[in-house]
Amino acid sequence: MPELRVGPLTLEARSGANLLDTLLAAGLPVAWSCRAGQCQTCLVQARPGQASPASTAPLTAHQQQAGWLLSCQCQVIQDMDIHLHDPASDGMGAQLVYKENISPTLLIIRVKPDRPLRYLPGQHMVLWLHAQLGRPYSIASLPTDPYLEFHLRLHSEGAFSAEIVKLVVGDRLALGAPGGHLSYDMEWQDRPLLLLAGGTGLAPLQAIAREALRQGHDAPIDLWHWHSDADDGCYMQARLLQLADEHASFSAHLHKRSTLESDLRQLRLASRSTMALVCGQPGFIEQLRKPLFMAGLPARQVLDEAFISRKA
Ligand SMILES: Cc1cc2nc3c(=O)[nH]c(=O)nc-3n(C[C@H](O)[C@H](O)[C@H](O)COP(=O)(O)OP(=O)(O)OC[C@H]3O[C@@H](n4cnc5c(N)ncnc54)[C@H](O)[C@@H]3O)c2cc1C
Ligand code: FES
Repeated sequence: MPELRVGPLTLEARSGANLLDTLLAAGLPVAWSCRAGQCQTCLVQARPGQASPASTAPLTAHQQQAGWLLSCQCQVIQDMDIHLHDPASDGMGAQLVYKENISPTLLIIRVKPDRPLRYLPGQHMVLWLHAQLGRPYSIASLPTDPYLEFHLRLHSEGAFSAEIVKLVVGDRLALGAPGGHLSYDMEWQDRPLLLLAGGTGLAPLQAIAREALRQGHDAPIDLWHWHSDADDGCYMQARLLQLADEHASFSAHLHKRSTLESDLRQLRLASRSTMALVCGQPGFIEQLRKPLFMAGLPARQVLDEAFISRKA
């Protein structure tokens, strides 16, 4: 049986067992959120060579060299020396500099990291309130902005939602490393972009639209946003309409969620080379898969990111 050494503790693991499950079953304080290898909340560190390849594949070369791995994706097949992630020392400190309650279920925050941080517009990172409470959120700002912006849907039974609303400007939090595959690719310069966002899935997609325009993207950019019928319109309406005024190639289609199905039936592609980027809750992504295929977009031209939650 493989041994897991965690500080002074030695655990016996079943060969092939999931590392996160094994650590949690032993009562160790490991945070987690998506359990799908997407969010980096479940990071732990091991010695080089001890992690299974699947558990390091989504991480940067720098993270891999430092021995970080995603415990939710790791099968225990050999002895491992584990260091538990501590956001206070392993993450980056940041200060809350802006907080706007858009509605009882929608919050916009801006944070200023203690040091400059490199990221691509559209990526996400874990916001940590303490070692046990971190959740992934997409970055809504551009690296040229003097802050990181996040758009948070607040869930009535959400542990993070309940705590983040108590923070006031000046409070501290910690940030994980930026990650994720959603970002603007310069190779798309001449291809129409179709950006399809549900709810706060707008956060990364509007950042990608702004980045594409900043990079001089030539082809049309169509951003569609479906907001909850309970919301008072699209929460970024003013900013998006201003962007459309400033850039003839950019258009924003802001609709209620209840019109999604009929909107999708009318979906037409500007060109067969269109790249579609889709972001929102898992059900939203699923709902778009078939209409995009029927509209003539092969899977390789569709990039999606599902906001998988802890219990969904
Ligand atoms: C890569 C990635 C990027 C993300 N980016 C964003 C973002 O920019 N903005 C944003 O608002 N969210 C984003 N999410 C989703 C967010 O991380 C989760 O919704 C998170 O679980 C919320 O934490 P919580 O503590 O409030 O709720 P949790 O304690 O994690 O969940 C408690 C309960 O709240 C409800 N709940 C939580 N999340 C959802 C959900 N997404 N849909 C439906 N019900 C839910 C469920 O009933 C759940 O059982 C992202 C997720 C991923 C994986
Ligand atoms: S990556 Fe492991 S819980 Fe999200």
